[in-house]
Amino acid sequence: MVGELSSTSNESSSSSNELLLQAHAHVWNHIYNFINSMSLKCAIDLSIPDIIHNHGNPMTLSELTKSLKISSSKAPYVYRLMRILTHSGFFDKSKIGENEIEEAYSLTPPSNFLLKDNPSSINPLLALTLDPTRIGAWLNLSDWFRDEDLIKNPFANTHGMDIWEMGGQQQGLNNLFNEAMASDARFVGSLMVEKSQVFEGLNSLVDVGGGTGTIAKAIADAFPNLKCTVLDLPHVVRGLEDKNVAFVGGDMFKNIPPADAVFLKLILHNWSDEECVEILKKCKEAIPSKEKGGKVIIVDMVLGEEDTEATETQIFSDILMMVVTKGKERNEKEWALLFLQAGFSDYYIIPLGLRSIVELYYV
Ligand SMILES: C[S@@+](CC[C@H](N)C(=O)[O-])C[C@H]1O[C@@H](n2cnc3c(N)ncnc32)[C@H](O)[C@@H]1O
Repeated sequence: MVGELSSTSNESSSSSNELLLQAHAHVWNHIYNFINSMSLKCAIDLSIPDIIHNHGNPMTLSELTKSLKISSSKAPYVYRLMRILTHSGFFDKSKIGENEIEEAYSLTPPSNFLLKDNPSSINPLLALTLDPTRIGAWLNLSDWFRDEDLIKNPFANTHGMDIWEMGGQQQGLNNLFNEAMASDARFVGSLMVEKSQVFEGLNSLVDVGGGTGTIAKAIADAFPNLKCTVLDLPHVVRGLEDKNVAFVGGDMFKNIPPADAVFLKLILHNWSDEECVEILKKCKEAIPSKEKGGKVIIVDMVLGEEDTEATETQIFSDILMMVVTKGKERNEKEWALLFLQAGFSDYYIIPLGLRSIVELYYV
């Protein structure tokens, strides 16, 4: 009897220890989370995905190490970098050779997005996200929470200017930002063109905040009868020319050129609710009503509720918007309220991975 009692108490203390250890490990995991991004950055800087891709077959560690432009004294460390990236799903490891004793690395579906020649390469987004100007803002996040200034975001608090002003002053950063946007536009553009019903019946479209015109060019190429215009800040569109796309430097808060459709990709998540309503009202002024063929086409996130990796990524993006802009990611209810406040009558959502296409109308 005594023995049973003490065993129950031992069991309960060992299960509470187990919970304690799990909780402790959970905190360590989150403290170390940045190591995933930094390891990925290192692999891209060393061109590891391209080297494995160009090899054509699964590549052994010694073949890979010999192909890298690294100091020979660092060769023994390569397997550790490959171990974390294999663990996080960027490389596959398989046994090769007659006796299957050698292990070799190959690419996985996510690492295809890390190839420099992939038009949808995510490398520019990674470089932008981990740029020291961005990291500096993250390190000041708690200072921003304490600060009384409601207008500035952590990025502007840190650097004394917002990301758009900094882009206007630093050509390198402007190029990095535009390339990150352009590679995403190539990816989303090709998927959107397949959903051709979004553009059906339109004669003209203005891509507001359309950057250097990547997606507008893809749309114009796919729909030759659709007259496409890009409106963006003067320093973004300066000197840009294209046979199918017109570029206009301006401010979407002041004027949007008239068209059948206004296209807004990754714009509204950069701005506060009040600013979004202002932008949407300008969009409404630029387009005809639903029965006359007018619509706004939004590509942005619609925050999910499910406990999935996609929802976690959307929540990461929401905090990123808080740090570098005045915007946020929104759920459907929040979007619907903005649409109503701007005077629109109905909307239609087409999910597209992390983002959605939202068609917006007024009657
Ligand atoms: C997140 S980027 C999206 C670029 C592009 N739509 C895409 O998804 O590839 C936001 C764009 O808004 C532009 N922008 C910022 N403020 C603007 C303004 N007041 N008027 C017009 N464009 C603006 C920026 O220059 C930038 O190109």
